[in-house]
Amino acid sequence: MDEGNRSRSGRASSRRRAVALAAVAAVLAWAAAGTAQTPPRAATLFADADLPLGERLIREHRCAECHARKFGGDGASIYRPKGRISTPGFLRGMVEQCNTELNFGLFPEEVTSVAAVLNRDHYRFD
Ligand code: HEC
Repeated sequence: MDEGNRSRSGRASSRRRAVALAAVAAVLAWAAAGTAQTPPRAATLFADADLPLGERLIREHRCAECHARKFGGDGASIYRPKGRISTPGFLRGMVEQCNTELNFGLFPEEVTSVAAVLNRDHYRFD
């Protein structure tokens, strides 16, 4: 295949690319603040998610009951895909935050599974 020295072709353009990459990295670091991990795509982030486990945890921790008290209905209207949660990583981070604040004691894989269910049912990031 293409094992040549691609990245060394053209010094000026690779330098410009390095600057652009640094800028992208800075934005990503900023976006990642407050989230445990931020692979950009749901397919990657939720690849190992155990959906039945996530569903069970959502029932057991009464997520919907509390959300319904605050937001009415069945509580689902709290999940606002068009709101501030705009990426799968951010969604997972929000679940992590509820987990920490409410002392649910979920393991990281459990947080991922819960977020994956919310993504499947409400946010639909791909
Ligand atoms: C004791 C009440 C309570 C419980 C229990 C609770 N939450 Fe929340 N949750 C809230 C409140 C209040 C907000 C809104 C916070 C805000 O807007 O700043 C929220 C917001 C969220 C959001 C962000 C919604 C959005 O799109 O902005 C997610 C995701 C979420 N909760 C997930 C969960 C999950 C998953 C569980 C169960 C494992 C859970 N929460 C349990 C009170 C609760």
